[in-house]
Amino acid sequence: MKAIIPAAGLGTRFLPVTRAVPKEMLPIGAKPALELIVDEAREAGADEIEIVISPGKELVRRYFEGAKGVSFAYQREQKGLGHAVLQAAEFVRDEKGPVLILLGDALVAGCNAAAEMVAVSRARGGASVIGCERVPREKTGRYGILEPVDGTMDGRCFKVETLVEKPRPEEAPSDIAVAGRYLLDPAVFRYLADQTAGVGGEIQLTDAIRRMLAERALYGCIYPGRRQDIGNPDGYFKALEAFRNA
Ligand code: UTP
Repeated sequence: MKAIIPAAGLGTRFLPVTRAVPKEMLPIGAKPALELIVDEAREAGADEIEIVISPGKELVRRYFEGAKGVSFAYQREQKGLGHAVLQAAEFVRDEKGPVLILLGDALVAGCNAAAEMVAVSRARGGASVIGCERVPREKTGRYGILEPVDGTMDGRCFKVETLVEKPRPEEAPSDIAVAGRYLLDPAVFRYLADQTAGVGGEIQLTDAIRRMLAERALYGCIYPGRRQDIGNPDGYFKALEAFRNA
């Protein structure tokens, strides 16, 4: 299995430290956060991992250079998450099975989210799976929100009817949010290749996934751990706490 870790973002919510250190390289105990994500991907069965960085993030490359099965791609313009993932198109060329995508600033404490999703996908014939979490209703406007197909909720998993990027609470189809982990059919790259800019003028991964829904089944899985967003100082402090107690 192949895994992509997008880590090319600017980190403006974590200035000024991100002028010196990419947020993905901040320590969680003795390891950079990104190494915990590489470990998660490997334990879930990924033997080839491509990290997408921007030219200012050479520190990431230097740290992982020589690590087995780790390669790098560059995103040279900040055009959004979908665009970052697209930079790994060559890496996934000819891949038949689903590809893992793990956001470089999202840590999950309490479970291996990627491994959970791989198990869910295998049980459903290799279908695409989005890792999810429940969020407070009033905060739906910060997330990609999933609409389950009626009657398909089975434990923590469900079939996805559609997804909406950052809906207002009164328009949100549920309180189930996309949470930093994806296991996607490589067909998504066909959609990413001609995806136009969406919310925020960025090429959104969720827009390409929504288009792919017309031809491929997609499942949501609320993983049992807690997602920690280390993209800002407050989330980072919470992550330190969560991993200290893990
Ligand atoms: P964020 O939404 O946190 O964006 O990206 P950001 O640019 O990193 O951070 P701020 O908003 O400036 O503080 C979520 C994930 O997607 C990656 C980021 O590296 C992060 O892992 N990303 C985002 C890219 O790789 N490229 C992009 O153009 C945008």
